[in-house]
Amino acid sequence: MAEQSGLIKGLEGVVAAETALCDLDGANGRLAYRGYDIDELARQASYEEVAHLLWRGELPTRAQLDGFCAELTAARPIPDQLLAAFRLLPKKADPMRALQMATAMLGTFDPDATDNSQEANLRKALRLTSQLATAICAHHRIRLGQEPVPPSKDLGHAADFLFMLTGERPSAVNVRAFDAGLILYAEHELNASTFTTRVITSTLSDMHSAVAGGIGAMKGPLHGGAGEAVMLTLKEIGQVENVDAFVEKALAAKRRLMGFGHRVYRGGDPRQVILRDLAEAACRQSGQGMWYEMAVRLHERVNRAKGLIPNVDFYSAPLFYSIGIPVDLFTPVIVAGRMAGWTAHIIEQHQDNRLIRPRGQYTGPGRRLFVPLDRR
Ligand code: SDX
Repeated sequence: MAEQSGLIKGLEGVVAAETALCDLDGANGRLAYRGYDIDELARQASYEEVAHLLWRGELPTRAQLDGFCAELTAARPIPDQLLAAFRLLPKKADPMRALQMATAMLGTFDPDATDNSQEANLRKALRLTSQLATAICAHHRIRLGQEPVPPSKDLGHAADFLFMLTGERPSAVNVRAFDAGLILYAEHELNASTFTTRVITSTLSDMHSAVAGGIGAMKGPLHGGAGEAVMLTLKEIGQVENVDAFVEKALAAKRRLMGFGHRVYRGGDPRQVILRDLAEAACRQSGQGMWYEMAVRLHERVNRAKGLIPNVDFYSAPLFYSIGIPVDLFTPVIVAGRMAGWTAHIIEQHQDNRLIRPRGQYTGPGRRLFVPLDRR
């Protein structure tokens, strides 16, 4: 029986699992997936190569990648029953709630749903990663009163997402930016949503159940919901000339500044450096440079006033906005990216499982005698 430790709020700094997936050096602001630096992966790899790396341990050869992409493409279609369910939802339904429902429903159709073997989990990771991308886009178009765009057979994962979202073949610049964004969100060690998926998996529950739980955790504004909040902040500020006054007012009101700060990166989030470059290119290319300029000014003012650094959700906001992602789909897009990491952690947990069950420190009243109802 392990020694019981004292209370550590938010499990800050607690090592809760071993993982071969992600090396996150918070002190030095470095991040690597299975030994490959995030900067190289984001700038040179595709999301498909990164998913292969996370699931199978190695970057694919050209032949392996061709076969892997064919499997991902074949797995994209979602059941008509799920489309029908989307049509029954209120038009204003939160896309993250629709995504949670979709995940649970896809589990009812998946032939491997309750099979936690390595082979079945690898099949489900690939299938669900493709299906959820289709589901996000299908729900979005249905809530707009439009017909879903069927997944293509000739586009890569990132390009097909943009195609299913808009119905138009995306530009190469937008595809590259979006692909890099998905890679930067793909995996991040034991963040709240990934830890959630591991806790659910540790009970020997299944991948669909764990992913549905992860979506619930990702939804929160302290986690994946921050990206949407950053874009709403930029829209609230309106123009770069208003940034200084906004920061002054926000700090005076002790307002939580979304997109800033991180539990682990105290010296800077390496992902935001890459996203800043991508956001600048995408904002300028789409004629929306003001969002980028506003973000840079906000970054500088907040950093100077409070020493806070931007996290991954800061520059991804103007990036996603400038390539046409609706603001309330930012978090579902983060889910689409994080699917590779979540499912890789679920596979890892099943490979070496022990039920995750921490303790609570009791602060309630001491032992006392029961008083029957007629005497209370
Ligand atoms: C993600 O864990 C991951 O890896 C997550 C993630 C991933 O890839 O999965 O990186 C993705 O979730 C990024 C974070 C997105 N969330 C936000 O941008 C929301 C705003 N950020 C904060 O809420 C906060 O920085 C957290 C939640 C991200 C981290 O919080 P901590 O580690 O619990 O830090 P804290 O809240 O204890 O803050 C320490 C101090 C506090 O000051 P005091 O009250 O002690 O004087 O710093 C201040 C905080 O008030 N502070 C902020 C702030 N972040 C910290 N003040 C204003 N605005 C902020 N954003």
